[in-house]
Order: sequence, then structure tokens, then C-alpha cells
Amino acid sequence: MKTKITEMFGIEHPILQGGMHYVGFAEMAAAVSNAGGLGIITGLTQRTPEDLANEIARCREMTDKPFGVNLTFLPSLSTPDYPGYIKAIIDGGVKAVETAGNNPAKWLPVLKEAGIKVIHKCTSVRHSLKAESIGCDAVSVDGFECGGHPGEDDVPNWILLPRAAEELKIPFVASGGVANGKQLVAALAMGADGINMGTRFIATVEAPVHDNVKQAILAASELDTRLVMRPLRNTERVLNNPAVERLLAKEKELGANIKFEDIIEEVAGVYPKIMKDGTMEAGAWSCGMVVGLIHDIPTCQQLIDGIMAEAEAIIQGRLARFAA
Ligand SMILES: Cc1cc2nc3c(=O)[nH]c(=O)nc-3n(C[C@H](O)[C@H](O)[C@H](O)COP(=O)(O)O)c2cc1C
Repeated sequence: MKTKITEMFGIEHPILQGGMHYVGFAEMAAAVSNAGGLGIITGLTQRTPEDLANEIARCREMTDKPFGVNLTFLPSLSTPDYPGYIKAIIDGGVKAVETAGNNPAKWLPVLKEAGIKVIHKCTSVRHSLKAESIGCDAVSVDGFECGGHPGEDDVPNWILLPRAAEELKIPFVASGGVANGKQLVAALAMGADGINMGTRFIATVEAPVHDNVKQAILAASELDTRLVMRPLRNTERVLNNPAVERLLAKEKELGANIKFEDIIEEVAGVYPKIMKDGTMEAGAWSCGMVVGLIHDIPTCQQLIDGIMAEAEAIIQGRLARFAA
């Protein structure tokens, strides 16, 4: 299937794997790229720019297909060495960058100069238009159902995608809540040129996370995510667990007076404990409502082939019948 997104990134299928903290290692990105999608290494999971350079080199050993790097600009306790990370990306010959969390304008000239395509993740039409106006090549439109940070507008993809199609001139992918070929077809129908998946890719054979994480995703339903950090205007959709319930109780109790320090135990340093050690109650970790649609642990190749086969069968079968 050819779309503006497959052409832009030089990939076979219009399927991207969004950056995921402590999931987006070289193994994950290479598996997605080898299966014909665009795998993405999560830049900030690497402690230093040198570590990122090594991770890019490792990924290159595992695939000769294009892959990208995610750069996230979210509030954090100390500011990462972004110029160093960007240098590692450019020197590593990476040609796709997914930016997220904040306006990437400051970093665009150097990325564009290096011939890198930039896809910015946005949770609203106004941010998408901003991304377009500053020169981003594409947008990943992330609906309210997404795992991670859905923003503060709470607009789900059923509305957000057609709204993006009304306004955007640059191509966009549908992100948030996607797991199967039916949704790829729906996304294409609503004006998107592909899909971006996070949570679905964690429940794959190659995802380099503890098996407990994959089993937790299989066991969960669409009712099992919660929104945390709303009072801090840093909303995150996470899988419910006792630590999340404790966090929500603190939010209720402290109300508008809550500070990041009050919830540090439930949110700081959680990812290695969850993803590496499999200590599932260590704290809050990003997870989408799409868990309700995840019932197996395929390889990335099986997953992507299955999505493409389902999408093509729907377009040629069910949809073609309606057009007759
Ligand atoms: C465990 C996890 C960690 C994530 N970490 C990041 C991150 O570091 N940076 C980022 O831009 N997005 C991050 N995301 C968001 C994903 O890239 C993607 O936008 C989102 O998962 C899409 O929603 P879905 O999970 O419903 O597919 C994360 C998502 C998950 C599930």
C-alpha cells in the first residue's frame, strides 16, 4: 500500500511505532522496520547522546531498513542534552525523527539541514497547524484514547482525525487506540495516510520488555486505563494498578494544591522497574485504551502482515460491496 507516509519515510506499509520510554530500544525499532513499518528508538531512554549513538549503531546492525528516533520535550527534573542527542541522530544517519511534547521549532533547522523528515505528535488541531506552519513534514494526530500524554483537550480520534483532515495540508497518521486493519481502513477513510501504534507494539514477541508487561496488556480491558496528573496539566493515560489508585487518591485529597513532589514516588523512575524487572505495581506507566483490542502476542511481522491483510480484504470486499 502506497501513501504519502510510505513515500515520505521510504517504507513498505503505512505503520509507525511511536516512541516509548524503556520500550523503544534497538530491538523494537529494528523488528518493526524489518516488518515493513517505521520503527522508532526512544531517544531519551538512552542516558547520554553517546548511548543514543550506540543504540542507533546497534539498530543499524539489526536492520537495513529505515528507522527513526523519538525526541520528547516534556517537563522533566533536569533538561536533557538535546543538541547532543540531535548530533547523535544526524551523525548516525537517521532520516526520520518523531518529536513530541512541545514545539520543536528550535530544533527544526538543524534537522532539516541534515535531510531528516520530522513528524510531530500533536493532540489537537491547533498544535497540528502550528507544526505545519513551522515546517514539520507530517503530523501524528494523537487522540484522547492514546496511551501516554493525550493533552488536555480530550478530543477522541473519531472527531480529531476528520478535523485534522479539514485543516491540514501536510500528511498525518492516526495515533492512539489503533491495533488492527479495520482501524487502518477507518483512519485512511478519515483522511490519514497511515497509523501510529504504541501499546499494541508492546505486546509483541520482539518488544524488549518483561513478560509481565505483555501479560498485563493481554489481561486488561478497555476499562482499565486511568488519567493521572490532570491537576498538573501533564495528563497521562496509564494502566490502573494499586500505585495509580494511590496517586489518584492523593490528587483527590490535595486538589489544586498538588505538586509534582507529592506524587514522585508513583511516577519517577518507574519505567525500568516495570519494563525491565516486571514489577507491575511499581508505579504509573503509559498504556492506551486499545488494550481492550489486544488478545495475542504476535511477532511484529505477523502483526503488521495481519493488519495489512485485514485492511486490504476490507477495502476489496466489504467496502467495495457498498460502492456497487
Ligand atoms: C509505555 C509507553 C511509553 C511511551 N513513551 C513515550 C515517549 O517517551 N515519548 C513519546 O513521544 N510518546 C510516548 N508514548 C506514546 C506513544 O508514542 C504513542 O503516541 C501512543 O502510545 C499511541 O497510543 P496507543 O498506545 O493507543 O497506540 C508512550 C506510550 C506508551 C504506551
